[in-house]
Amino acid sequence: MRWGIVGTGGIARRTVGDLQLCDNVELVGICSRDKDRAETFASEHAIPFASADFDEFCTSGQVDAVYIGIPHGLHFDHAARALRAGVHVVCEKPLTMTSAEAEELHRLSRENGVFLMEAMWMKFTPAFRAVTEILGSGTIGEPRLIQAGAGFPVPPDGPARYWVAELGGGALYDLGVYTIALAHAVLGTPDQVIAVGEIREDGVDEQEAYTLRYDSGAVAQLTNSLTAFIPPGGWIGGTRGSITLGEPIFAPRSLRVVTGQPPAPPTVEELDFDQEGAGYVPMFRAASEAILRGDLEHGIHPVSDTVAVLRTLERVRAELVDARNRADQGAQPASLGRPGA
Ligand SMILES: NC(=O)c1ccc[n+]([C@@H]2O[C@H](COP(=O)([O-])OP(=O)(O)OC[C@H]3O[C@@H](n4cnc5c(N)ncnc54)[C@H](OP(=O)(O)O)[C@@H]3O)[C@@H](O)[C@H]2O)c1
Repeated sequence: MRWGIVGTGGIARRTVGDLQLCDNVELVGICSRDKDRAETFASEHAIPFASADFDEFCTSGQVDAVYIGIPHGLHFDHAARALRAGVHVVCEKPLTMTSAEAEELHRLSRENGVFLMEAMWMKFTPAFRAVTEILGSGTIGEPRLIQAGAGFPVPPDGPARYWVAELGGGALYDLGVYTIALAHAVLGTPDQVIAVGEIREDGVDEQEAYTLRYDSGAVAQLTNSLTAFIPPGGWIGGTRGSITLGEPIFAPRSLRVVTGQPPAPPTVEELDFDQEGAGYVPMFRAASEAILRGDLEHGIHPVSDTVAVLRTLERVRAELVDARNRADQGAQPASLGRPGA
């Protein structure tokens, strides 16, 4: 399977070695907006085909699949162009900025008979696969509570993709995509979403704390920030035990499974997992296997999961926008018509 990378930034540099570690991946191409950057990246990583023209890259007949590693706000346009050119797509998270865009990409993937997947590497890690097995075995009983978060401060003059609305800036779509994917994988789509946080007038959110409530009584409490450190961890509490995921939750390498009913002392199991490369190998290998099988998506992270998470992201975001609008109205008490105003 001949792959090409799109973008020469942070994630391209972190994943290039992992693509080259997969025995079913032949990394043959790199595409940049800039010819010199493409050629430099190509020579640094022994990649034969360097292009500064994305459409030419996709129609060249030299790449079967592209891995899109550019800011989120550009994902939909690039993924759509690749799919229309008949090229398989693995695109960085979040796949798109709206659930409707993800549905449109899903349609294009089926129409053109090519594979589509969001690069949700977390779900392909051995530790996350083990979480799924532990939950399925009933070891910790019924999952009832999840707590997870991820955050780090990015200065206002940091990489544009964090703070520029058109590029998809904000904490929620960058980091909430993981915390919500965890909640969805364990508990499914929530019945209610309650969120507080800071969202700027241009729609870029700085941080948020939100609760996903399920009619079963289960609850997920999640936090993301681009203005404060949040340890990138999480745990799942069940009726008979708990699982704590090692940090970072995007690529955990350990799990702590605690079971037992008081007054009996708890049983604690510490599980460690090897990481191949920088942690992206299982995802790229699985995507390549699926493409070689002729599948249009992957069972571990089908497009329907991406769409469901994007819908929850939209609900969280709508809550933040509503709260902001209410706060803005609060600055003009007369318009609120409150008693005594
Ligand atoms: N899975 C993970 O662990 C992980 C980690 C970090 C980021 N990501 C995801 O990867 C994507 C890229 O993140 P990143 O940190 O690699 O971003 P980045 O370094 O800021 O940018 C990535 C590259 O995108 C290309 N690009 C194309 N059009 C651009 C534009 N208008 N503005 C800026 N860059 C543009 C640039 O490459 P050229 O100049 O060569 O065209 C740039 O170097 C995001 O969607 C992010 O969510 C995933």
